[in-house]
Amino acid sequence: MKIIHRWMILIFLSSFSNMLNLNDKVSADNIEQGRKIYSQVCFNCHGPKLNGGIGPALNDNYWRHGSSPEAILNAISKGIPETEMIAFENVYSESDRIALRDFILSEQEGMREVLRSVYPVSYFKGKRFKPELFKSVESESQKPLPENVFYFDRSKEGILLGNAKLYIKEAGNYQFVVRPIGRTSIYLNEKEVHYSDAKINKKDSVNLSFELTKGVHDIVIMHEEKVTHSYRFHAVLKNKKGLTIDLCGRSLEGNVPRIIKPGVEAKVARKWIAGLPPRTLLCVLPNKVIVAYNPVDGKVLKAWHTAEINQTPSLADRSAKASALKGIAMTEFSSGVPDSDSVQFKYYESMGEMVTIVSTINGVDKVVTIAPKGAQSFSLSIK
Ligand code: HEC
Repeated sequence: MKIIHRWMILIFLSSFSNMLNLNDKVSADNIEQGRKIYSQVCFNCHGPKLNGGIGPALNDNYWRHGSSPEAILNAISKGIPETEMIAFENVYSESDRIALRDFILSEQEGMREVLRSVYPVSYFKGKRFKPELFKSVESESQKPLPENVFYFDRSKEGILLGNAKLYIKEAGNYQFVVRPIGRTSIYLNEKEVHYSDAKINKKDSVNLSFELTKGVHDIVIMHEEKVTHSYRFHAVLKNKKGLTIDLCGRSLEGNVPRIIKPGVEAKVARKWIAGLPPRTLLCVLPNKVIVAYNPVDGKVLKAWHTAEINQTPSLADRSAKASALKGIAMTEFSSGVPDSDSVQFKYYESMGEMVTIVSTINGVDKVVTIAPKGAQSFSLSIK
């Protein structure tokens, strides 16, 4: 009974989101209304092109709080507690919030609402994958993936059943390109469009090209993953113009956007900031002053007041992107250890409101102390 219930819910959810037809005329006005409000308010934090800023990108694959129309509307209405994302339900009428949601949805491309279920291999031996087959077996695990691409946990083996919505922005002729390992089957809008099995004759495999309209489509991916596969599941969707939509990727668990803000105690952040050397210590003082100190030569490189650090706002390219430091650059500040001195960095510590950096300077252990001064400055002492 449990299995049947789950499928009934899935079917219910999918028919619900099918009602959201991005092409019809009524919702076109809605999208324009949403775009208008977005460019008045939301763009300040989520970027003019929805590609992120203080807040996360709203057009990439990663949806921390859910990518379904209901989840997006909920984030807009209720906000996200303890973050800068406030609840907008008392600011905008319901129809305006729906318009914002529909505008955001109209900007999506790729898979959303990705649900990964894993099934035991034994039941599927010798059977051609079909979505119906999965109704009579219990899954071992089921997990919505916020990255909205499929991946397997390392060293796991099983049959993957992936359900998702596929958002297409550019109508045209598309085809799947799947790495030929194991067995893979893809259904689009309930029709088999791809079937490959490394063991069967190539001519028995299916790889259709098909027309896709702008809007939302249903996609089901079935794939057998073996521990012995040296490569993992890999597939993309391509159109004739060279556009590529990823169906696979990696887990970004634990890798969430974070703003580093001043607290009551000083802290030291070691983030990659464009234009600063990689070992720079960013001393974040309680008075919102950030001092970039280079422990290699004991020099203060830069300093800002009214500042904070945003650790890579967009997740798709998170590891490749520098963190952003926002603040007002100070023009006058102590420069640190004199040029002529030789410096060997030992360690740093935050002590209450200040940061201390211990180094051997000209052969003697010294403590460089960086402390807040007034509302918009800092002091530096070497003892
Ligand atoms: C003051 C900055 C700010 C403004 C203005 C703002 N947001 Fe946000 N928003 C954020 C931050 C920060 C987050 C991420 C919170 C978290 O997960 O830590 C967020 C998250 C979201 C999310 C969830 C994203 C996800 O990955 O699940 C949605 C949807 C969203 N905002 C929509 C909007 C819309 C629509 C507006 C305009 C009405 C708006 N935001 C205005 C800062 C802002």
